[in-house]
Amino acid sequence: MDTIPDFLQRVKQQYLQQVSLDQFQWVTSDIEWSVLVEPFTQAYLGEFLYPSIYTKFFLKSYFRLLDKHSQNHTEPDETLLYIYIESLSSREIPPVQYTLGDCSVQVYESQNILLRAGTTGVRTWEAGMALAELLYQNPINPGTRVLELGAGTGLVSILCSKMGASVLATDGDNKVCQGVEENAHLNECELSVQRLLWGVDPPVYADLVLASDVTYEGDLRCLATTMNDLTVVNPRCKILLAATLRRRETIDNFLRLISNFHVRVLTKKKYEKLLYYDSPPVVFYEIFR
Ligand SMILES: C[S@@+](CC[C@H](N)C(=O)[O-])C[C@H]1O[C@@H](n2cnc3c(N)ncnc32)[C@H](O)[C@@H]1O
Repeated sequence: MDTIPDFLQRVKQQYLQQVSLDQFQWVTSDIEWSVLVEPFTQAYLGEFLYPSIYTKFFLKSYFRLLDKHSQNHTEPDETLLYIYIESLSSREIPPVQYTLGDCSVQVYESQNILLRAGTTGVRTWEAGMALAELLYQNPINPGTRVLELGAGTGLVSILCSKMGASVLATDGDNKVCQGVEENAHLNECELSVQRLLWGVDPPVYADLVLASDVTYEGDLRCLATTMNDLTVVNPRCKILLAATLRRRETIDNFLRLISNFHVRVLTKKKYEKLLYYDSPPVVFYEIFR
């Protein structure tokens, strides 16, 4: 295929991001439907699909669409059938790849072991994706000393490191910190990782503090204390918080706890969606002394 249509590139990005098949957007028009079931589309898919647990579900959906929408009754091609059969016995869970224009970040994560692992840090949350999009579209200056709180899988920290920032990714959970180290290694990027349990571990110098989906439950006084301490170490540091608005009272309660700061809400015009996720609204707060 000479030129890959935009929608097939979107299919590829969603596949690499392992978007849940019930939210997967295959096409948006009739013309795209007809292209989706063409033999050359199968050849294109065959170039980047590999056997994995996710691929099994992806191909099952694709074959169903082929059956339903192909007027010439196109059969699945041999390469795709081979990948599908290999996927049936595959135990492989490859890293999720987030594509932001010319930049991509891969992270190992899990939707399933969330509760078993006892931490929310094993998957990337919508606010983390939104923060990554915002930063990609409003790049930080190389050399900026960035500290991330509650880094989770490390998507945001790794992106900042790729943009040339000097990054310290932190999380209160040692296992999550270990995961960030592994993900940084996977992306061949240099960043430091350290445990920082809010309200307990000491603050560190930073020009920019980033945090996404950290205002979700429980006693947020520890988080407010850490933010406060960070601005004692560097009074000029700016905090950028991406908050998912699940319950309005939770965020209002947190804003009351940091009422000694200036807080500015960033406008939605600052970025557009580049990744694939469904989300309750995410609001960005710039917090500073
Ligand atoms: C909902 S996850 C968000 C992860 C990531 N920022 C994202 O948006 O995908 C919350 C993260 O905060 C961390 N966390 C929760 N309570 C914490 C605390 N008291 N101190 C430090 N980190 C904490 C968790 O381990 C987890 O990684």
